[in-house]
Formats: sequence, C-alpha cells, structure tokens
Amino acid sequence: MVKQYVSKNTWAPGIFDGKVVFCTGGAGDICSGQVEALVSLGANAVILGRRQEATQKRASEIAAIRPGAQVLGLGGIDVRSVQALEGAVATTIEKLGRIDFVICGAAGNFLSTVENLSANAFKSVIDIDLLGSYNTVKATLAEVKKRKGRYLFVSATMHYTGMPYQSHAIAAKAAIDALSGALSIELGPYGVTSNTLAPGPIAGTEGMARLAQASQLDKLTRNIPLQRMGEVSDIADATVFLFSPAANWITGTGIVVDGGAWRRQSNHEPYPEIVMSGEPVADVAGQKGKHLQRAKL
Ligand code: HXC
Repeated sequence: MVKQYVSKNTWAPGIFDGKVVFCTGGAGDICSGQVEALVSLGANAVILGRRQEATQKRASEIAAIRPGAQVLGLGGIDVRSVQALEGAVATTIEKLGRIDFVICGAAGNFLSTVENLSANAFKSVIDIDLLGSYNTVKATLAEVKKRKGRYLFVSATMHYTGMPYQSHAIAAKAAIDALSGALSIELGPYGVTSNTLAPGPIAGTEGMARLAQASQLDKLTRNIPLQRMGEVSDIADATVFLFSPAANWITGTGIVVDGGAWRRQSNHEPYPEIVMSGEPVADVAGQKGKHLQRAKL
C-alpha cells in the first residue's frame, strides 16, 4: 500500500502545482518519500536510479497517489555519468517542460574499517555521493536558474562528531555540506537556493538495514532524545517545508531531522561495543563481516 508521507493538514493542497522535481536516488526509501510528499501537493516529478525495475515501479506508485500526477522513473542512471544525467535532464524537459526542485539523494555506503577499505572503494562512495551531487548540479543548473529553483542535498550527521567504519561516506557528506554552502553564495543572486537535510536513523529503510543490525535498534532508539526512530514522513515534511514558500529566504543552511540523535552519537552509536571491544564482528548489517572480520581495533 502506498502511504501519503505528509500531513494533510500542514500544507495547503496544490502548493506545488506546476512545479517539477528532479530527484537522484529516487527509488530509495527516503527520497521516494520526499518526492511522494511533493507530488501529493501538486508537483510532477522525475526519479532517477541505477535500478531499472525498482525506479520505474516506485515512479508508478508515486504517480498513483494523485490523479493527474506525472511521475517518470528513469532507471539505469548512475550519477557518476555526466552523460546519463544530461540525458535525463533532456528527457525531463521534453516530457515535463521544466525543473524547479532538485534533490541530490543518490548515495552509497557500507561498513568497513579504514584499514580494510581499498582506495577504489573509498573513491566509489565519494564519486557517488559527492561527485554525483556535483554532476547533478551541473546537469540541471541552466534549467533551475530559469525557474529560480531550489537544490536540496541529502546529507547526514555523522561528520558532526565522527563515526567508525564509514570514513568514505562521512568524508563525502561533510563535503556535500560545504558544496551546498558554496552554491548558496554563487546561486543566490539568481534566486536559486541551496540547502541540506540531514536525516537521523529512519526506521525500516534499506539504508538502515545495511548499517545497523536489528539487535542494535533498541539501544539506538533509547539513545535518541525523542525516544523513537524517525519515519520517512519526518523527512518528507521537512522537505515540503524547504521547498515551500515558507522557506523563501532560507539558503546556505541545513536542517537536521533526527530526534536529537546526533547530540548523543559521540560514543559511536550504534557500534559502541564493536569499537570498545575490538572483537571481530560476525555479521554487521548483514554484510557477513566481509571487511570488519579482520579488524582488531
Ligand atoms: C566493502 C565494498 C562493498 C562492501 C563494494 N565495495 N561494496 N567493500 N564492503 N559492502 C568495494 C568493492 O570491493 C570495490 O573495491 C569498490 O567498493 C567498488 O565496488 P563495485 O562493486 O565496483 O560497485 P560500485 O557500484 O562502484 O559500488 C557502489 C557501492 C556499493 C556504494 C560501493 O556498496 C553499492 O552500490 N551500494 C548500494 C547503494 C547503497 O549503498 N545504498 C545505501 C545508501 S544509505 P575494490 O577494491 O574491490 O575494487 C546511505 C546512508 C548514508 O548512504 C548516511 C548514513 C548515516
């Protein structure tokens, strides 16, 4: 069943009528929730992803939430390819006529100690998260400038403190925050805004399943000041705000939507036992300890 990821009473119906969203990583749980909320309030959208079938399936599900909604799913698009992104922009303009909002959400991540992380694995994540965001901006900028549009980068909170086993993703997300800040200055005079949204741990997502074991979730939740995991709707609501007229004068900043979690993550939640004990990890995040098994910290 398709959920409607936004409170019906919070935002006026149709506030995004005529707007078009372009979202990378759009078949993922968080990004598709963001797009769904915008579409439910009038926008049309293009979601892009590497997975052909999942991207198209998700696009049809999103389209079904509002009669008349146009949602294209463009699969087989890797944000590391400038050519693929330029093609996706051309298709968007041909089919939907414009681009107002861009969500840079494509990301890759897995757990590995620095010791076991190859340069190529580090580069892969940097290339998807950081270079992929840059490529997306470059490919869309001319269209976004025409509409005095908005960029939103899906960031993280790991780099506010530090987090083990994700040196690749943490470096990428820190740089994405910096990139967004730089863009806000350059693009402000064109009426284009650039902001980041940093989600905390969101229940039931594929990303969460990759990074934490089910047995860690209770402890993780207890450590969150608001005492619950996030929902996709928490992220979707903040996204609606950042693209709404209510955020007209907001640029060069970020919103953390995490129940306060990052303020207590300095003890390396959700991996404190692993860090402190230095024991080999048999199956962290279902990855069969491929890279952690040999770690003796
Ligand atoms: C260790 C790995 C690995 C893993 C890939 N590599 N997966 N190393 N553990 N699980 C290494 C490979 O061995 C290789 O290095 C290099 O990374 C490139 O891998 P490829 O298989 O060639 O594929 P590529 O498409 O480049 O890899 C992308 C990937 C992959 C990110 C590395 O994990 C992936 O596609 N993941 C799916 C998307 C994803 O991760 N989504 C989660 C997003 S959640 P060598 O040396 O062998 O050549 C998220 C949340 C962030 O991002 C915020 C958290 C708080």
